[in-house]
Amino acid sequence: MQDFIWEREYRNPLLVTKGEDPQKDTLRFLKWLRREREIPLDHLSVLDLGCGTGRNSNYLAELDNIVTGYEISKTAIELAKERAKNLKINVDYRVQNIGAPYPLADNSMDVVIDVTSSNSLNEQEREIYLSETARVLKQGGHFFVKTLCKDGDQNAKALIKNNPGPEYDTYINKDMGLTERVFTEKDFREMYSKYFQILELEKKTSYTRFKNQSYKRNFWLAYMVKF
Ligand SMILES: C[S@@+](CC[C@H](N)C(=O)[O-])C[C@H]1O[C@@H](n2cnc3c(N)ncnc32)[C@H](O)[C@@H]1O
Repeated sequence: MQDFIWEREYRNPLLVTKGEDPQKDTLRFLKWLRREREIPLDHLSVLDLGCGTGRNSNYLAELDNIVTGYEISKTAIELAKERAKNLKINVDYRVQNIGAPYPLADNSMDVVIDVTSSNSLNEQEREIYLSETARVLKQGGHFFVKTLCKDGDQNAKALIKNNPGPEYDTYINKDMGLTERVFTEKDFREMYSKYFQILELEKKTSYTRFKNQSYKRNFWLAYMVKF
């Protein structure tokens, strides 16, 4: 469990964003849901895993969806709640580990999103995150994941070599002290296909800025459905 690292990060942010605008890849997924899957973007029950300070949850609630946000950092959840109150919207924000059983009914969610949150789970927690997401999603419900990609990412490969973490394809991010997992396409497909049908899997390169330096990182964007 790396909860204290995330809590420290939100108290004194080095890498996380406290921005309020919805994340762009999430907006693109929502557009795809509406256009390609013909799902109206209101009155959906949505679970946001690792919701941070609520930029995606609050946006979804503003569209008139029923949103639950799980987050390990109390500081982040307090800020998310305050923002929801200012926007006069309702979101069920909870301090909850996404790698532990979810206090939600089976087949209760239309959509689950994980926007770069599950990378810092360990293998045991990841198994729970996968089975719990599958359990709470309705049949035909959609799952959006943005996660770190190993393929073609020179920074990830150097980090694994120089600062290896305790588990397979993990490294310790020295700035935050956080252990993160990266995925090859093969590993990603094998892991998620146990529970979901992968409809789209796209590799995307982004640049993250830290201490006046720009780092090139690769991400997977996955659109999935529960079969
Ligand atoms: C990179 S941030 C992304 C936040 C948010 N998804 C967004 O797009 O703004 C990752 C988030 O996942 C949260 N997180 C990490 N591990 C978690 C866990 N085990 N349970 C719940 N939240 C977790 C972190 O505290 C952090 O807010």
